[in-house]
Amino acid sequence: MTQQKAICHHEFGLPLEVLRLEDVQQAEPQIGEVRVRLLAATINPSDYGMIGGSYGRLRELPAVAGREGVGVVDAIGRGVTRVGVGARVRFPEAGAWQETACMAAADVLLVPADVPVDQAAFSFINPPTAYCLLQKMVDLAPGSWVLQNAGNSTVGLAVIQMAKVLGFKTISQVRREELIAPLKALGADHVVIEGSGWAKQVNELTGGEPIQLALNSIGGASASDQIKALGEGGTQVTFGAMVADLVRFPTRFLIFNDVRLVGFWWDQWSQKAGAQGLNQVMSAVYAMMRDGSLKLPVEATYSFAEYEAAVKHDQQPRLGKILLKP
Ligand SMILES: NC(=O)c1ccc[n+]([C@@H]2O[C@H](COP(=O)([O-])OP(=O)(O)OC[C@H]3O[C@@H](n4cnc5c(N)ncnc54)[C@H](OP(=O)(O)O)[C@@H]3O)[C@@H](O)[C@H]2O)c1
Repeated sequence: MTQQKAICHHEFGLPLEVLRLEDVQQAEPQIGEVRVRLLAATINPSDYGMIGGSYGRLRELPAVAGREGVGVVDAIGRGVTRVGVGARVRFPEAGAWQETACMAAADVLLVPADVPVDQAAFSFINPPTAYCLLQKMVDLAPGSWVLQNAGNSTVGLAVIQMAKVLGFKTISQVRREELIAPLKALGADHVVIEGSGWAKQVNELTGGEPIQLALNSIGGASASDQIKALGEGGTQVTFGAMVADLVRFPTRFLIFNDVRLVGFWWDQWSQKAGAQGLNQVMSAVYAMMRDGSLKLPVEATYSFAEYEAAVKHDQQPRLGKILLKP
């Protein structure tokens, strides 16, 4: 029996308190299954939610942590014809921080071989979320303004780059002055500092054009500022909650400005959209990754053995994803 490394947890809690690097048994692919070998996995805020027990859906314990990674098929079970050994695919979502895992061949998501591994590793959650936020929530006319907070997050950077491709203009809220130049270099139209009173000058930023879409992954005062800056009939989409503070705002924005507040969850959207909807979004993401119009930064790469350093680094100010490689 072959043993392999996996980053596991036996209880819900803080990652640095509950995660352990363990030796677990490597599975053999059964009939209709493939085994995937991990090339690179990411650390996402939703991993902390799953490890901590607060996410929208949880795993049975003990669990292998991690949701997102890219791998290569290294063994196939009987009856598998859809994919062969060597195919590059999404690593099974049910535990991405392990060396190999098996899954039904029918559920495999193929990754074009010419997408760089380090881009492919974080292509499955944040870029498709950014694409849906821009394309599936409201009908935006070309040239429309889009407002977002966490402009330096991976979703935020994808929104900035995709907005350029799709013909929209962006205002990105960030917490640090030093992010303004790199975000503008990536194509951001305006970058504003949280808490600076920017919402009062929003007409100067847009030349008087109303903002029809605001993307909120933070909450609290950051989200309230967006609601105040939205134009009449504008929509705020909440898809993350990096702070637990309540969103407070005068209800006059609902009554007199007809502002809409809605939510988005990629897991649910992709389930409902089915294979065809998922393929359309992933094809759009991979087309942009292939032609270089979407290129997301990697902050650092760590081995499984260094997972504690990786988590600590992830929780520091940064511009790009942390990758885990076995
Ligand atoms: N609903 C969905 O389907 C879906 C899908 C993907 C992502 N998301 C959400 O989208 C958000 C971004 O994900 P990501 O992977 O792109 O993030 P990421 O690259 O890990 O970046 C995290 C971002 O959160 C900001 N942040 C962290 N703590 C904060 C705080 N206390 N106050 C204000 N800002 C804070 C960081 O800003 P600093 O650099 O200033 O710390 C950074 O911009 C997360 O909320 C995630 O849960 C949701």
